[in-house]
Amino acid sequence: MKIVSSKIENVLPKSHIQILNAAVELSQDINTDLYLVGGCVRDIMLGVSEGNFDIDLAGSDIDRDFADRLAGKLKGKVKSSSLFGTHKLSVPVGYQTNIEIDLALCRSETYKTPGSLPDVSPGDLFQDLLRRDFSVSAMCIVLRSPEDQDWQWGQLIDPHSGYKDLKNEELRILHKNSFVDDPTRMFRLLRYSGRLGFAIEEETKKLFESSMNWVSVISGERIRHELEKIFEERDIGVILSNCVMTGLLPAFLTQIDCKHLIKFKELEYSGDFKNNTAEFWFGIVGMNANKTEVEYLSKTLNLNSKQREVIRDLNSLNKQLQKHSAQLVSEDPKRSDIYKFLMKYNVIAIQVCAATTSDMSIKIILEMYLSSLMNSHTELSGDDLISLGVRKGPKVGELLNNLLYAKLDGQLPSIDSEMDYIKNYLRNN
Ligand code: CTP
Repeated sequence: MKIVSSKIENVLPKSHIQILNAAVELSQDINTDLYLVGGCVRDIMLGVSEGNFDIDLAGSDIDRDFADRLAGKLKGKVKSSSLFGTHKLSVPVGYQTNIEIDLALCRSETYKTPGSLPDVSPGDLFQDLLRRDFSVSAMCIVLRSPEDQDWQWGQLIDPHSGYKDLKNEELRILHKNSFVDDPTRMFRLLRYSGRLGFAIEEETKKLFESSMNWVSVISGERIRHELEKIFEERDIGVILSNCVMTGLLPAFLTQIDCKHLIKFKELEYSGDFKNNTAEFWFGIVGMNANKTEVEYLSKTLNLNSKQREVIRDLNSLNKQLQKHSAQLVSEDPKRSDIYKFLMKYNVIAIQVCAATTSDMSIKIILEMYLSSLMNSHTELSGDDLISLGVRKGPKVGELLNNLLYAKLDGQLPSIDSEMDYIKNYLRNN
Protein backbone atom coordinates (compact mmCIF):
# COMPACT_ATOMS: atom_id res chain seq x y z
CA MET A 1 0.00 0.00 0.00
CA LYS A 2 1.44 3.36 -1.01
CA ILE A 3 0.37 6.40 1.00
CA VAL A 4 1.23 9.67 -0.66
CA SER A 5 -0.44 12.15 1.69
CA SER A 6 2.84 13.95 2.41
CA LYS A 7 3.42 14.29 -1.34
CA ILE A 8 0.00 15.94 -1.71
CA GLU A 9 0.78 18.31 1.12
CA ASN A 10 4.18 19.18 -0.35
CA VAL A 11 2.96 19.73 -3.86
CA LEU A 12 -0.45 21.32 -3.51
CA PRO A 13 -0.80 24.88 -2.26
CA LYS A 14 -2.90 25.41 0.88
CA SER A 15 -5.79 26.76 -1.17
CA HIS A 16 -6.00 23.46 -3.06
CA ILE A 17 -5.88 21.37 0.11
CA GLN A 18 -8.80 23.43 1.42
CA ILE A 19 -10.71 22.59 -1.74
CA LEU A 20 -10.03 18.89 -1.22
CA ASN A 21 -11.20 19.15 2.40
CA ALA A 22 -14.42 20.85 1.31
CA ALA A 23 -15.04 18.13 -1.28
CA VAL A 24 -14.40 15.40 1.29
CA GLU A 25 -16.84 17.03 3.74
CA LEU A 26 -19.49 17.09 1.07
CA SER A 27 -18.79 13.50 0.06
CA GLN A 28 -19.52 12.49 3.67
CA ASP A 29 -22.92 14.17 3.48
CA ILE A 30 -23.94 12.11 0.47
CA ASN A 31 -21.89 9.08 1.41
CA THR A 32 -19.95 8.82 -1.84
CA ASP A 33 -16.39 7.64 -2.33
CA LEU A 34 -14.09 10.34 -3.70
CA TYR A 35 -10.76 10.31 -5.54
CA LEU A 36 -8.23 12.58 -7.13
CA VAL A 37 -7.75 11.14 -10.60
CA GLY A 38 -5.95 11.49 -13.90
CA GLY A 39 -3.52 14.22 -14.85
CA CYS A 40 -3.46 15.89 -11.46
CA VAL A 41 -2.36 12.65 -9.76
CA ARG A 42 0.37 12.27 -12.38
CA ASP A 43 1.53 15.82 -11.65
CA ILE A 44 1.44 15.34 -7.86
CA MET A 45 3.51 12.18 -8.20
CA LEU A 46 5.93 14.09 -10.43
CA GLY A 47 6.12 16.86 -7.85
CA VAL A 48 4.97 19.43 -10.40
CA SER A 49 3.49 22.32 -8.52
CA GLU A 50 3.97 25.25 -10.83
CA GLY A 51 1.39 26.76 -13.13
CA ASN A 52 -2.31 26.46 -12.96
CA PHE A 53 -2.80 23.26 -11.04
CA ASP A 54 -6.33 22.07 -11.78
CA ILE A 55 -8.05 19.33 -9.79
CA ASP A 56 -9.83 16.27 -11.21
CA LEU A 57 -12.18 14.51 -8.81
CA ALA A 58 -14.22 11.35 -9.37
CA GLY A 59 -16.70 9.46 -7.24
CA SER A 60 -19.53 6.97 -7.60
CA ASP A 61 -22.32 9.42 -6.77
CA ILE A 62 -21.13 12.70 -8.17
CA ASP A 63 -23.95 14.57 -9.89
CA ARG A 64 -25.04 18.09 -10.72
CA ASP A 65 -26.30 18.61 -7.18
CA PHE A 66 -22.86 17.71 -5.80
CA ALA A 67 -21.28 20.10 -8.31
CA ASP A 68 -23.63 22.95 -7.33
CA ARG A 69 -23.09 22.41 -3.63
CA LEU A 70 -19.30 22.23 -3.96
CA ALA A 71 -19.27 25.35 -6.12
CA GLY A 72 -21.42 27.13 -3.49
CA LYS A 73 -19.15 26.02 -0.66
CA LEU A 74 -16.07 27.29 -2.49
CA LYS A 75 -17.69 30.54 -3.71
CA GLY A 76 -17.17 29.47 -7.29
CA LYS A 77 -19.50 28.44 -10.08
CA VAL A 78 -20.35 25.47 -12.26
CA LYS A 79 -19.12 26.57 -15.69
CA SER A 80 -20.47 23.64 -17.68
CA SER A 81 -21.88 20.15 -17.41
CA SER A 82 -21.60 17.49 -20.10
CA LEU A 83 -23.72 14.64 -21.32
CA PHE A 84 -21.11 12.29 -19.85
CA GLY A 85 -21.95 13.39 -16.30
CA THR A 86 -18.91 15.63 -15.90
CA HIS A 87 -19.01 19.12 -14.42
CA LYS A 88 -16.47 21.88 -14.74
CA LEU A 89 -16.20 24.27 -11.82
CA SER A 90 -14.25 27.47 -11.61
CA VAL A 91 -13.30 28.45 -8.06
CA PRO A 92 -11.24 31.30 -6.66
CA VAL A 93 -7.94 30.46 -4.96
CA GLY A 94 -6.55 33.93 -4.48
CA TYR A 95 -6.74 37.46 -5.73
CA GLN A 96 -8.11 37.23 -9.28
CA THR A 97 -6.88 33.64 -9.59
CA ASN A 98 -9.23 30.81 -10.33
CA ILE A 99 -8.64 27.13 -10.84
CA GLU A 100 -10.77 24.56 -12.58
CA ILE A 101 -12.15 21.50 -10.90
CA ASP A 102 -13.36 18.67 -13.12
CA LEU A 103 -15.92 16.53 -11.35
CA ALA A 104 -16.90 13.19 -12.84
CA LEU A 105 -18.93 10.15 -12.08
CA CYS A 106 -16.78 7.00 -12.10
CA ARG A 107 -17.66 5.47 -15.45
CA SER A 108 -16.88 2.87 -18.02
CA GLU A 109 -16.66 3.62 -21.73
CA THR A 110 -17.12 1.57 -24.87
CA TYR A 111 -16.52 2.65 -28.44
CA LYS A 112 -19.01 1.48 -31.09
CA THR A 113 -16.76 2.45 -33.95
CA PRO A 114 -13.19 3.73 -34.10
CA GLY A 115 -12.98 7.47 -33.59
CA SER A 116 -16.60 7.85 -32.43
CA LEU A 117 -17.40 9.39 -29.08
CA PRO A 118 -17.68 6.71 -26.40
CA ASP A 119 -20.87 5.22 -24.97
CA VAL A 120 -20.68 5.98 -21.31
CA SER A 121 -22.23 4.12 -18.39
CA PRO A 122 -21.72 4.39 -14.65
CA GLY A 123 -18.89 2.13 -13.50
CA ASP A 124 -16.62 1.53 -10.57
CA LEU A 125 -13.26 3.10 -9.89
CA PHE A 126 -11.32 0.35 -11.65
CA GLN A 127 -13.39 0.68 -14.80
CA ASP A 128 -12.87 4.41 -14.62
CA LEU A 129 -9.09 3.99 -14.48
CA LEU A 130 -9.14 1.39 -17.25
CA ARG A 131 -10.92 3.73 -19.70
CA ARG A 132 -8.00 6.18 -19.62
CA ASP A 133 -5.25 6.77 -22.12
CA PHE A 134 -1.83 6.31 -20.49
CA SER A 135 -0.77 4.39 -17.41
CA VAL A 136 0.72 7.53 -15.84
CA SER A 137 -2.73 9.15 -16.04
CA ALA A 138 -4.57 6.06 -14.82
CA MET A 139 -3.73 6.33 -11.14
CA CYS A 140 -5.90 7.78 -8.40
CA ILE A 141 -5.46 9.00 -4.84
CA VAL A 142 -8.18 8.14 -2.33
CA LEU A 143 -9.83 11.09 -0.60
CA ARG A 144 -12.74 9.09 0.80
CA SER A 145 -12.85 5.32 0.70
CA PRO A 146 -15.94 3.38 -0.42
CA GLU A 147 -17.57 1.51 2.44
CA ASP A 148 -16.58 -1.92 1.17
CA GLN A 149 -12.86 -1.02 1.18
CA ASP A 150 -10.51 0.01 3.92
CA TRP A 151 -8.58 2.58 1.92
CA GLN A 152 -6.95 5.55 3.58
CA TRP A 153 -6.86 9.23 2.74
CA GLY A 154 -3.85 9.73 0.49
CA GLN A 155 -3.58 6.09 -0.63
CA LEU A 156 -2.37 5.66 -4.21
CA ILE A 157 -4.42 3.21 -6.28
CA ASP A 158 -2.37 2.18 -9.29
CA PRO A 159 -3.74 -0.92 -11.03
CA HIS A 160 -1.81 -0.28 -14.27
CA SER A 161 1.66 0.32 -12.80
CA GLY A 162 1.57 3.98 -13.73
CA TYR A 163 3.98 4.94 -10.97
CA LYS A 164 6.60 2.54 -12.31
CA ASP A 165 6.21 4.07 -15.79
CA LEU A 166 6.40 7.53 -14.29
CA LYS A 167 9.70 6.71 -12.62
CA ASN A 168 10.98 5.18 -15.88
CA GLU A 169 9.72 8.25 -17.74
CA GLU A 170 7.68 6.22 -20.19
CA LEU A 171 4.27 6.66 -21.77
CA ARG A 172 2.30 3.47 -22.21
CA ILE A 173 -1.26 2.86 -23.33
CA LEU A 174 -3.40 0.48 -21.32
CA HIS A 175 -4.67 -1.87 -24.03
CA LYS A 176 -4.01 -2.56 -27.69
CA ASN A 177 -7.21 -0.93 -28.97
CA SER A 178 -6.64 2.36 -27.21
CA PHE A 179 -5.55 4.34 -30.29
CA VAL A 180 -8.15 2.71 -32.53
CA ASP A 181 -10.93 3.46 -30.05
CA ASP A 182 -9.80 7.05 -29.81
CA PRO A 183 -7.17 8.16 -32.34
CA THR A 184 -6.98 11.63 -30.72
CA ARG A 185 -4.85 9.83 -28.13
CA MET A 186 -2.08 9.71 -30.73
CA PHE A 187 -1.88 13.49 -30.58
CA ARG A 188 -2.09 13.32 -26.79
CA LEU A 189 0.82 10.87 -26.77
CA LEU A 190 3.07 13.29 -28.63
CA ARG A 191 1.85 16.22 -26.53
CA TYR A 192 2.68 14.53 -23.21
CA SER A 193 5.92 13.14 -24.55
CA GLY A 194 6.91 16.72 -25.52
CA ARG A 195 5.70 18.21 -22.26
CA LEU A 196 7.17 15.66 -19.86
CA GLY A 197 10.17 14.63 -21.96
CA PHE A 198 9.04 11.00 -21.56
CA ALA A 199 9.94 8.23 -24.00
CA ILE A 200 7.25 6.15 -25.69
CA GLU A 201 7.18 2.52 -24.57
CA GLU A 202 8.03 0.06 -27.38
CA GLU A 203 4.67 -1.69 -27.71
CA THR A 204 2.88 1.67 -27.56
CA LYS A 205 5.14 2.93 -30.34
CA LYS A 206 4.25 -0.07 -32.52
CA LEU A 207 0.54 0.40 -31.90
CA PHE A 208 0.89 4.11 -32.63
CA GLU A 209 2.41 3.29 -36.01
CA SER A 210 -0.07 0.59 -36.90
CA SER A 211 -3.05 2.80 -35.94
CA MET A 212 -2.00 5.71 -38.15
CA ASN A 213 -4.74 5.11 -40.74
CA TRP A 214 -7.44 5.58 -38.14
CA VAL A 215 -6.58 9.26 -37.75
CA SER A 216 -8.61 10.10 -40.83
CA VAL A 217 -11.83 8.91 -39.17
CA ILE A 218 -11.74 11.64 -36.51
CA SER A 219 -13.68 14.83 -37.07
CA GLY A 220 -11.74 17.97 -37.98
CA GLU A 221 -13.23 19.63 -34.93
CA ARG A 222 -11.55 17.13 -32.60
CA ILE A 223 -8.19 17.35 -34.37
CA ARG A 224 -8.40 21.14 -34.21
CA HIS A 225 -9.05 20.84 -30.48
CA GLU A 226 -5.98 18.61 -30.09
CA LEU A 227 -3.88 21.13 -32.01
CA GLU A 228 -5.21 23.94 -29.84
CA LYS A 229 -4.10 21.98 -26.77
CA ILE A 230 -0.65 21.56 -28.32
CA PHE A 231 -0.56 25.31 -28.90
CA GLU A 232 -1.00 25.84 -25.15
CA GLU A 233 2.13 23.83 -24.36
CA ARG A 234 5.59 25.25 -23.68
CA ASP A 235 7.48 23.26 -26.33
CA ILE A 236 5.05 23.70 -29.21
CA GLY A 237 7.77 23.47 -31.86
CA VAL A 238 9.04 20.11 -30.60
CA ILE A 239 5.55 18.61 -30.41
CA LEU A 240 4.47 19.94 -33.81
CA SER A 241 7.59 18.70 -35.50
CA ASN A 242 7.08 15.26 -33.91
CA CYS A 243 3.50 15.30 -35.21
CA VAL A 244 4.96 15.71 -38.70
CA MET A 245 7.98 13.42 -38.42
CA THR A 246 5.91 10.52 -37.11
CA GLY A 247 3.50 10.99 -40.03
CA LEU A 248 0.56 11.76 -37.74
CA LEU A 249 -0.38 15.23 -38.96
CA PRO A 250 0.24 14.34 -42.64
CA ALA A 251 -2.06 11.32 -42.17
CA PHE A 252 -4.87 13.76 -41.39
CA LEU A 253 -3.94 16.78 -43.49
CA THR A 254 -3.38 14.72 -46.61
CA GLN A 255 -3.63 17.59 -49.09
CA ILE A 256 -1.00 19.95 -47.73
CA ASP A 257 2.71 19.67 -47.17
CA CYS A 258 3.52 20.01 -43.46
CA LYS A 259 7.27 19.43 -43.72
CA HIS A 260 8.08 23.05 -42.98
CA LEU A 261 6.95 22.43 -39.38
CA ILE A 262 9.90 20.12 -38.74
CA LYS A 263 12.30 23.04 -38.51
CA PHE A 264 10.39 24.47 -35.54
CA LYS A 265 11.86 21.70 -33.40
CA GLU A 266 14.91 23.87 -32.78
CA LEU A 267 12.88 26.95 -32.03
CA GLU A 268 14.09 29.34 -29.36
CA TYR A 269 11.07 30.49 -27.40
CA SER A 270 11.89 34.11 -27.29
CA GLY A 271 11.16 37.22 -29.30
CA ASP A 272 8.92 36.48 -32.24
CA PHE A 273 7.53 33.24 -30.86
CA LYS A 274 6.97 34.18 -27.25
CA ASN A 275 3.44 34.12 -25.83
CA ASN A 276 1.76 33.46 -29.09
CA THR A 277 -1.81 32.40 -29.59
CA ALA A 278 -3.51 29.43 -31.27
CA GLU A 279 -4.27 31.69 -34.27
CA PHE A 280 -0.55 32.43 -34.58
CA TRP A 281 0.26 28.73 -34.65
CA PHE A 282 -2.47 27.89 -37.14
CA GLY A 283 -0.80 30.62 -39.20
CA ILE A 284 2.51 28.74 -38.86
CA VAL A 285 0.81 25.52 -39.99
CA GLY A 286 -0.65 27.29 -43.03
CA MET A 287 2.22 29.71 -43.69
CA ASN A 288 3.01 28.28 -47.15
CA ALA A 289 -0.53 27.38 -48.15
CA ASN A 290 -1.85 28.59 -51.50
CA LYS A 291 -5.45 29.74 -51.89
CA THR A 292 -6.86 26.23 -52.42
CA GLU A 293 -4.88 24.90 -49.48
CA VAL A 294 -6.11 27.74 -47.27
CA GLU A 295 -9.68 26.69 -48.02
CA TYR A 296 -8.77 23.04 -47.47
CA LEU A 297 -7.21 23.78 -44.07
CA SER A 298 -10.11 25.97 -42.97
CA LYS A 299 -12.66 23.32 -43.89
CA THR A 300 -10.77 20.22 -42.82
CA LEU A 301 -9.92 21.59 -39.38
CA ASN A 302 -13.19 23.50 -39.12
CA LEU A 303 -11.22 26.58 -38.12
CA ASN A 304 -13.07 29.45 -36.47
CA SER A 305 -13.39 32.80 -38.22
CA LYS A 306 -10.34 34.38 -36.53
CA GLN A 307 -8.14 31.39 -37.37
CA ARG A 308 -9.38 31.38 -40.98
CA GLU A 309 -8.70 35.08 -41.34
CA VAL A 310 -5.09 34.63 -40.26
CA ILE A 311 -4.24 31.97 -42.83
CA ARG A 312 -6.19 33.75 -45.57
CA ASP A 313 -4.45 37.07 -44.89
CA LEU A 314 -1.10 35.37 -44.64
CA ASN A 315 -1.58 33.93 -48.09
CA SER A 316 -2.44 37.29 -49.64
CA LEU A 317 0.25 39.14 -47.63
CA ASN A 318 2.90 36.73 -48.91
CA LYS A 319 1.71 37.27 -52.47
CA GLN A 320 1.64 41.07 -52.15
CA LEU A 321 5.04 41.12 -50.48
CA GLN A 322 6.48 39.22 -53.41
CA LYS A 323 5.02 41.81 -55.79
CA HIS A 324 5.85 44.95 -53.84
CA SER A 325 8.88 44.10 -51.75
CA ALA A 326 11.27 46.10 -53.94
CA GLN A 327 9.19 49.23 -53.40
CA LEU A 328 8.81 48.65 -49.69
CA VAL A 329 12.44 48.01 -48.96
CA SER A 330 13.73 50.80 -51.20
CA GLU A 331 16.42 52.98 -49.68
CA ASP A 332 14.19 55.29 -47.79
CA PRO A 333 10.66 53.85 -47.71
CA LYS A 334 7.94 56.24 -46.63
CA ARG A 335 6.55 55.12 -43.28
CA SER A 336 3.07 56.05 -44.47
CA ASP A 337 3.45 53.72 -47.46
CA ILE A 338 4.40 50.85 -45.17
CA TYR A 339 1.42 51.65 -42.98
CA LYS A 340 -1.00 51.83 -45.94
CA PHE A 341 0.34 48.55 -47.30
CA LEU A 342 0.07 46.60 -44.05
CA MET A 343 -2.99 48.06 -42.37
CA LYS A 344 -5.30 45.84 -44.48
CA TYR A 345 -3.92 42.66 -42.94
CA ASN A 346 -4.69 40.79 -39.76
CA VAL A 347 -2.02 41.63 -37.19
CA ILE A 348 -1.37 37.98 -36.33
CA ALA A 349 -0.78 37.20 -40.02
CA ILE A 350 1.83 39.98 -40.04
CA GLN A 351 3.40 38.56 -36.86
CA VAL A 352 3.67 35.10 -38.43
CA CYS A 353 5.25 36.58 -41.52
CA ALA A 354 7.71 38.66 -39.44
CA ALA A 355 8.65 35.61 -37.37
CA THR A 356 9.24 33.34 -40.33
CA THR A 357 10.53 35.42 -43.24
CA SER A 358 14.13 34.84 -44.23
CA ASP A 359 14.30 38.26 -45.88
CA MET A 360 15.85 40.58 -43.28
CA SER A 361 14.73 43.81 -44.97
CA ILE A 362 11.13 42.63 -45.01
CA LYS A 363 11.43 41.50 -41.40
CA ILE A 364 12.61 44.97 -40.34
CA ILE A 365 9.69 46.61 -42.08
CA LEU A 366 7.13 44.23 -40.62
CA GLU A 367 8.58 44.69 -37.16
CA MET A 368 8.57 48.45 -37.52
CA TYR A 369 4.87 48.27 -38.35
CA LEU A 370 4.12 45.92 -35.42
CA SER A 371 6.11 47.79 -32.82
CA SER A 372 5.25 51.37 -33.70
CA LEU A 373 3.40 52.27 -36.91
CA MET A 374 0.23 50.30 -36.23
CA ASN A 375 -0.23 52.00 -32.85
CA SER A 376 0.25 55.52 -34.17
CA HIS A 377 -2.62 57.93 -33.99
CA THR A 378 -3.26 61.59 -34.60
CA GLU A 379 -3.47 64.09 -31.74
CA LEU A 380 -6.72 65.48 -33.12
CA SER A 381 -9.90 63.42 -33.04
CA GLY A 382 -12.84 63.42 -35.44
CA ASP A 383 -14.75 65.65 -32.99
CA ASP A 384 -11.84 68.10 -32.94
CA LEU A 385 -11.97 68.33 -36.73
CA ILE A 386 -15.70 69.05 -36.63
CA SER A 387 -15.18 71.78 -34.00
CA LEU A 388 -12.56 73.30 -36.24
CA GLY A 389 -15.20 73.53 -38.99
CA VAL A 390 -14.95 70.32 -41.03
CA ARG A 391 -18.40 69.15 -42.11
CA LYS A 392 -19.61 65.86 -40.55
CA GLY A 393 -19.33 62.94 -43.00
CA PRO A 394 -16.74 60.84 -44.83
CA LYS A 395 -14.41 63.81 -45.23
CA VAL A 396 -13.63 63.65 -41.49
CA GLY A 397 -12.22 60.11 -41.83
CA GLU A 398 -10.32 61.01 -44.97
CA LEU A 399 -8.71 64.03 -43.30
CA LEU A 400 -7.81 62.01 -40.21
CA ASN A 401 -6.06 59.48 -42.47
CA ASN A 402 -4.18 62.23 -44.26
CA LEU A 403 -3.13 63.69 -40.91
CA LEU A 404 -1.87 60.28 -39.79
CA TYR A 405 0.10 59.67 -43.00
CA ALA A 406 1.72 63.10 -42.76
CA LYS A 407 2.50 62.50 -39.10
CA LEU A 408 4.07 59.11 -39.86
CA ASP A 409 6.29 60.80 -42.45
CA GLY A 410 7.45 63.31 -39.85
CA GLN A 411 5.59 66.29 -41.30
CA LEU A 412 3.28 66.98 -38.35
CA PRO A 413 5.27 66.78 -35.14
CA SER A 414 2.74 68.48 -32.82
CA ILE A 415 -0.94 69.10 -32.23
CA ASP A 416 -0.45 72.72 -33.41
CA SER A 417 0.91 71.53 -36.73
CA GLU A 418 -2.09 69.20 -37.12
CA MET A 419 -4.43 72.16 -36.44
CA ASP A 420 -2.58 74.29 -39.00
CA TYR A 421 -2.95 71.46 -41.54
CA ILE A 422 -6.73 71.40 -41.02
CA LYS A 423 -7.09 75.19 -41.02
CA ASN A 424 -5.13 75.32 -44.23
CA TYR A 425 -7.42 72.70 -45.76
CA LEU A 426 -10.50 74.69 -44.69
CA ARG A 427 -9.10 77.90 -46.16
CA ASN A 428 -8.49 76.21 -49.52
CA ASN A 429 -11.81 74.39 -49.68
N1 CTP B 1 -8.62 10.88 -21.48
C1 CTP B 1 -8.50 9.78 -22.30
N2 CTP B 1 -8.61 9.92 -23.66
C2 CTP B 1 -8.82 11.14 -24.21
C3 CTP B 1 -8.95 12.27 -23.38
C4 CTP B 1 -8.83 12.11 -22.02
O1 CTP B 1 -8.30 8.69 -21.80
N3 CTP B 1 -8.92 11.26 -25.53
C5 CTP B 1 -8.51 10.70 -20.02
C6 CTP B 1 -7.05 10.83 -19.55
O2 CTP B 1 -6.66 9.70 -18.87
C7 CTP B 1 -7.04 12.04 -18.65
C8 CTP B 1 -8.50 12.35 -18.36
O3 CTP B 1 -9.25 11.70 -19.35
O4 CTP B 1 -6.34 11.78 -17.47
C9 CTP B 1 -8.75 13.84 -18.38
O5 CTP B 1 -8.32 14.39 -19.61
P1 CTP B 1 -7.63 15.81 -19.74
O6 CTP B 1 -8.25 16.76 -18.81
O7 CTP B 1 -7.56 16.14 -21.19
O8 CTP B 1 -6.12 15.53 -19.31
P2 CTP B 1 -5.32 15.54 -17.98
O9 CTP B 1 -4.80 14.16 -17.79
O10 CTP B 1 -6.06 16.17 -16.88
O11 CTP B 1 -3.99 16.31 -18.33
P3 CTP B 1 -3.63 17.80 -18.65
O12 CTP B 1 -4.81 18.67 -18.36
O13 CTP B 1 -2.47 18.01 -17.75
O14 CTP B 1 -3.24 17.79 -20.09
